[in-house]
Amino acid sequence: MTMSEQILLSLLSDGQFHSGEELGDRLSISRAAVWKQLQKIQQLGIELESVKGRGYRIPGGVDLLKPMELSDAFQQVPTALAGLSILSTTDSTNKQVVKYLNNGGESPFLCSCEQQTDGRGRRGRVWHSPYAENLYFSLSWKFQAGASVLEGLSLAVGVVIAEALRAMGAPQCSLKWPNDIVYEGKKLGGILIELTGDIEGPCQVIIGVGINVNMRAKSTDIDQPWTDLSKVMPEGLSRTDLLIDLVKALLEMLQDYEQNGFAGYRAKFEALNTHQGESVCLILGNKKIYGTVLGIEISGALVVETANGREVFNGGEISLRGADDTRV
Ligand code: BTN
Repeated sequence: MTMSEQILLSLLSDGQFHSGEELGDRLSISRAAVWKQLQKIQQLGIELESVKGRGYRIPGGVDLLKPMELSDAFQQVPTALAGLSILSTTDSTNKQVVKYLNNGGESPFLCSCEQQTDGRGRRGRVWHSPYAENLYFSLSWKFQAGASVLEGLSLAVGVVIAEALRAMGAPQCSLKWPNDIVYEGKKLGGILIELTGDIEGPCQVIIGVGINVNMRAKSTDIDQPWTDLSKVMPEGLSRTDLLIDLVKALLEMLQDYEQNGFAGYRAKFEALNTHQGESVCLILGNKKIYGTVLGIEISGALVVETANGREVFNGGEISLRGADDTRV
């Protein structure tokens, strides 16, 4: 997106009518040039209305990320960020953070964007990332302890996010082991953790988080029940405020996790876990295992009472469903 298209989009983000003349004057370009740039904005999937005599507007407005507000807010946190990047369109914020670290960048580094063209979910899935509708961000952190911390860490991230969303007005927000943020059984967000460096020694962890905020139904052909914050929370929280609150909470958790590990988050995860004590079906490739969820190990693994007795499962390629879920 060019700078001039970005300015045009931010002028129209208020949802009010703006005449072609006014927009042209603000950008010092012709009305024909305004029209061309508006078409580019429409190509992002943003609805644009044009009414003769009144001009153009985006019905309902669009909640753009505010880079200056974000940068100010992160200057006031106890754990300072080493870097911050707010992008318009990018492939995947996780990929961007990996690239940054591979070029010698320092952690903690935060990357967020309006739209991902190659957003990735767990188990190779696509993560739907339409322009300015949801939250997509990745935060890096340096650990000395190696990859053994990872499974518990991704659960602790879920705990912090679910607790923050509850405090913001989404009281039924819960978790589905290992990495789903859910609301009354529907997916609200997900966490994808990646690693660079030494699997047994110092490594950098990339915590990728996607939260559905205000997803237009036409944006998606998601293959599972989903919801977004606009459907479950009182209005008024901007994506910028949401990003600030979630990242602040994550930075605080990471500081603590480095010292104390998963122990302090285990019981909290169990309390937030939608399937705690319930009958579930674990899907491992072609295999289905039925059982009752007993809880979470100190490693972050899931403990299930199956026909073979007490069994422990690690995240990886497992998919977890309620035993009555008939999806294939
Ligand atoms: C899942 O539930 O499958 C995990 C989804 C993780 C999506 C986020 S969006 C920001 C970051 N960048 C990506 O490409 N993926 C993660």
